[in-house]
Amino acid sequence: MTMMPNAAAAVRFHDHQPPATSLSLRDELLQGLRASPKTSSPKFFYDLRGSELFDLICVQPEYYPTRTEEAILRDAAGDIADVVGKDATLIELGSGASRKVRLLLEAVRPTSYLGIDISRDFLLNSTRRLAADYPWLDVHAACADFSQRMTLPTGMACEHPVAFFPGSSIGNFAPEEAESFLRGLHSLLPSGSGLLIGVDLIKDEAILNAAYNDAAGVTAAFNLNLLERLRDEFEGDLDPATFSHHAFYDTAHSRIEMHLVSNVDQDIRVAGEIFHFERGETLHTENSYKYSADGFRTLAARAGFESRALWTDPDRLFSIHYLLRA
Ligand code: AVI
Repeated sequence: MTMMPNAAAAVRFHDHQPPATSLSLRDELLQGLRASPKTSSPKFFYDLRGSELFDLICVQPEYYPTRTEEAILRDAAGDIADVVGKDATLIELGSGASRKVRLLLEAVRPTSYLGIDISRDFLLNSTRRLAADYPWLDVHAACADFSQRMTLPTGMACEHPVAFFPGSSIGNFAPEEAESFLRGLHSLLPSGSGLLIGVDLIKDEAILNAAYNDAAGVTAAFNLNLLERLRDEFEGDLDPATFSHHAFYDTAHSRIEMHLVSNVDQDIRVAGEIFHFERGETLHTENSYKYSADGFRTLAARAGFESRALWTDPDRLFSIHYLLRA
């Protein structure tokens, strides 16, 4: 790990040098395509176009999670500050544009902020902007894959760490993966640390189905973009127009499932390998799990996090938990 002070941007950059992933990404992708039923990890959505489409999803009228979580953060910022306490170091996991944390900074007044993201340039740009906008804040950036075991950067005063994981990204893990992810966080954080985490709630099926089938077709384009990525980046020979977006709420598993359905019987080629799709056969591209407040508390408790506070919106669409690392 290297650490270099960056006087101009006032950001301390910690490079954990996450391994170059293209080879293992390709292996993982091929493994999913060989499986029965065929699957693909949601992380493959996020090339440049996929990230742009995700930002567009977040402002679709049917996609309530982003605006609802932001409203909760805005409304509860004072209460969150009281529970978090003084002299916190806010550690944002997958910090991206570091947008949501801005809703908390004035109220919580942490001494320092650490953004962790795998995308180096994006991370540096957004933490530099944060440092410029909040000159009183000691801003750090760590380029790392937080889903893998990692350590907190050395040389960073971190008396009261509070991890921040908004967006219900935890919902894209299966519950057992979510639990093991939280166990990893438990090992990363010292006892007494906090975890402020956004979790989408179980609700009326119609609201959920609409959120993943927006009328403008942005979620469909986001899902189908995966095929364009296969074609352009993984030497694919396939026509994305021969697939359709399919997303539905599965009540039994409390999850949205997203699939790409083949409209025809066909062979596609990816990275030199041929994969057969029957007409109607799907590539399962994402699960997005929804939890009740108690369901998530129970899962977190199994990973060693105790519930301290919970905030929701008046319609109980979304929840933000504050948990303490026991
Ligand atoms: C990033 N994640 C929490 C989003 C979700 O709602 O599961 C990804 C997404 N997929 C389709 N729409 C949004």
